[in-house]
Amino acid sequence: MKRKLLLANRIVTADAKNTVLRNHAVEIIEGKIERIVSLKDVNVSNYNGEVLDYSRYTLIPGFVQTHIHLCQTLFRGLADDLELLDWLQKRIFPFENAHTKNSLRLSVRLGLHDLLSGGTTTILDMGTLRHQEVIFEELNWCGVRAFAGNCMMDQNELYPSFRETTDWNLKTAHDLAKTYHDSNGGKVKFGFAPRFVLSCTEKLLKETKEMMKEFPGSIFHTHSSENQKEVETVRKLTGKENIEYFNSIGMLDSHTVLAHCIHLNENEIKSLKSNSVRVAHCPSSNLKLGSGIANVPRFIKEEISVSLGADGAPCNNTLSAFTEMRHAALIQKPIHWPTAMDALTVFRLATIEGAKALHVENEVGSIEVGKKADLVLLDLEKADQPIQGINAQGLSEDERVYSAIVYSASKENVKAVLIDGKLVSENGNCLLYDENELVSEGKQELNELLKRF
Ligand code: GUN
Ligand code: FE
Repeated sequence: MKRKLLLANRIVTADAKNTVLRNHAVEIIEGKIERIVSLKDVNVSNYNGEVLDYSRYTLIPGFVQTHIHLCQTLFRGLADDLELLDWLQKRIFPFENAHTKNSLRLSVRLGLHDLLSGGTTTILDMGTLRHQEVIFEELNWCGVRAFAGNCMMDQNELYPSFRETTDWNLKTAHDLAKTYHDSNGGKVKFGFAPRFVLSCTEKLLKETKEMMKEFPGSIFHTHSSENQKEVETVRKLTGKENIEYFNSIGMLDSHTVLAHCIHLNENEIKSLKSNSVRVAHCPSSNLKLGSGIANVPRFIKEEISVSLGADGAPCNNTLSAFTEMRHAALIQKPIHWPTAMDALTVFRLATIEGAKALHVENEVGSIEVGKKADLVLLDLEKADQPIQGINAQGLSEDERVYSAIVYSASKENVKAVLIDGKLVSENGNCLLYDENELVSEGKQELNELLKRF
């Protein structure tokens, strides 16, 4: 049996009581958290197993991001300063349409490198129309915890060559789900991904929802109500608001994750709540595409599930959970007052709330006995961080740690990342890939892809 003892200066557990522990160690057996013990109660020098000495660092749960497009990472910086529909029509649809298996593989690897080195250990990915098996191969190889599925598109007014028939989309999803749902020891699950109303017929949406019944634990993942022109077009097509339309055709339940949810009426907010829908909030993308600001404080007040996602690299342009946390907090303050979206609330959206959104809160999202050892170590003893070891302003140091994580820290403070207790990134270097190789192969693949564009 493989035993490891991970020593930490501080453990920010994200459990129900937001417990913060000092000078504790996490014992990991077979990739799971077996015990959390005070360093006083453990004989480190005689420990019967491997000792991971991170006793200078702060341990937090791996981040969960509930809206990602790995297939778009190769297009980072190639679609700036556009609004959603132009961004899709002029750049993203033609780019995704031009993917070969090789360019897709590189895009996925670049994305996983970025996510893992930044402390994200669980993702919900939107996939792409063709060659989705490549994404699953890469997810399984690298060991990230993921929900993914082929991005379904059976209509496309914006860029008609980028779609497939309804039957092709459904058969592809079914074949892939049979192969990859619950693969890699249950770490990889299927996330059915009809892209958005504008790319999906009602038949496709309804039959996808029906198909999910065959794959318990799978997720229904789509975009909704992101952009004014998008919702106007949905209204013209369906006679309804986006979420009212989804509700009317039976798409909404607790296994539905809707990215964005910006342009909603009261009735739609009620329907998110009554159907226990999960909102994936993507603040950086929403700002960069000029889409708007989702009313997240209201969702939280209504106890609607909210979690965070970086969306795709070309609309962000980072995949860092730190950037999402920072933006999730800051964008609400001018509207809802600075007391809205405090650091602890936002930290929970990026960890345990993400896990709950995907129904994997018994496995990840917090540091508790019995959960998987998906863990991130932060170096906060830095000149660019709040001075540690101080109780001030009526706040204990343990309460102040959330301020450091959400408002000051970035990917640069990530010292190490573990998935199932296995080290996957150290000092900003993802150990699974050679960064220089990724960059030079990326250049080659992007050059080739642009010739097909
Ligand atoms: N809506 C449909 N497709 C996309 C996409 O790729 N990114 C974003 N942000 N919104 C979308
Ligand atoms: Fe998206």
